Amino acid sequence: METNRNVTLNYKEGEEALELPVLKGTLGPDVVDIRSFGKTGMFTFDPGFLATASCESKITFIDGDLGQLYYRGYPIEQLAEESDFLETCYLLLNGELPTAEQKADFDRKVLRHNMLHDQILTVFKGFRRDAHPMAVMVGVVGALSAFYHDSLDISDAHHREVSAHRLIAKIPNIAAQAYRYNKGLPFSYPKNGLSYAENFLHMMFSTPCEEYKVNPVLARALDRIFILHADHEQNASTSTVRLAGSSGANPFACIAAGIACLWGPSHGGANEAVLKMLDEIGSVENVAEFMQGVKDKRYKLMGFGHRVYKNMDPRAAIMKQTCDEVLNELGLHNDPKFKLAMELEKIALSDPYFIERKLYPNVDFYSGIVLSAIGIPVSMFTPIFALARTVGWISHWAEMIADPAMKIGRPRQLYTGSPRRDYVATDKR
Ligand code: SDX
Repeated sequence: METNRNVTLNYKEGEEALELPVLKGTLGPDVVDIRSFGKTGMFTFDPGFLATASCESKITFIDGDLGQLYYRGYPIEQLAEESDFLETCYLLLNGELPTAEQKADFDRKVLRHNMLHDQILTVFKGFRRDAHPMAVMVGVVGALSAFYHDSLDISDAHHREVSAHRLIAKIPNIAAQAYRYNKGLPFSYPKNGLSYAENFLHMMFSTPCEEYKVNPVLARALDRIFILHADHEQNASTSTVRLAGSSGANPFACIAAGIACLWGPSHGGANEAVLKMLDEIGSVENVAEFMQGVKDKRYKLMGFGHRVYKNMDPRAAIMKQTCDEVLNELGLHNDPKFKLAMELEKIALSDPYFIERKLYPNVDFYSGIVLSAIGIPVSMFTPIFALARTVGWISHWAEMIADPAMKIGRPRQLYTGSPRRDYVATDKR
């Protein structure tokens, strides 16, 4: 990690220059280690962290210019094609692909711990039926710490592993029950013998009245969507989980904080916003006027742009292929929303306004169309993103907690408020 290079900072007349070491990772840009910057008596200033590496991590690598995404070094394209979501979870959590025995053991652990404590189902009933499923997920996941006292000692590696397995196992059940509660459907239960994605579809759509048959093409598409959303370096919600975890908060509270952050339309809420945008545009005839509105900054082109990717988001390309497969399987390849999305993408990829700003489709642009085709309501798009991202969040949390050098995150500020002033009595104001 050390290089023999420094950045020399002549920050004040008459003061000795500050030598800041340059550190090199395995891949990606070098970083300037500013941990000694306090000697200057100043702070660095980087709102939105556009130029700040907040931590060292071995989990996920992104190259925004080349449109590359690796989980523990494996390209997302290969994992989406060759792997499955639970194997990807094992990889993100443990750093290596599992042997056949390790995979069987991990699958069993997760697929046999997906039931919820029955009292948790009562927590759902505290919400209004029309509560947004994300509000329910934040509340119920945060409440898990009230049920699993036996795995909250974050200094114990076994407790950290048990909590990680519990969260991965139970998050699909929580998401499915949030949907069912919203619809007024009776709660459902996982079914042994089904895969992770099959069980999620079963818990979402089964009824007590008849056997629910899982469509294997849709289950495979969903499993791939989970893989594509599993992790993404230090995005807003993962940074939220790390900051919450740095105070020593329990893993369930930290994941609830991540879910809350993901809900925003600039982040995980974008797939829901893409479908709302397509509905508002209505038809291809309205695209030109809408795009003018985007250029006039009256609207954002949801599902486009990314803080890191200044090239095509590699997940968007895979998502588009998955979209084709699902629409063909369901005979919806003439789906008007998909055609409208294709027209928007075609225009955006050729229009100088978007090219100059390096605005390409991101993972959220096609995911909403796929989920909608599978029959998943728009309000469940971000809960599914949260379901998939839980493994990424808990992997980063565990990596941070296991680091003996971990400190509580506590940024400073540039204060531009009022200088010191004395209190003024009411009758003198
Ligand atoms: C996710 O970080 C992650 O990794 C997130 C994520 C993950 O897996 O965790 O990848 C998931 O959140 C994907 C992003 C989903 N969000 C959206 O699709 C919402 C629409 N996108 C924008 O809100 C925006 O692109 C962001 C928030 C994603 C990125 O914003 P930045 O990096 O802060 O870029 P910016 O706002 O500084 O924009 C630069 C320029 C501006 O124009 P000018 O002022 O230079 O004229 O690009 C314009 C912006 O107005 N711009 C857009 C735009 N995004 C940026 N213009 C129209 N439509 C857009 N979507």
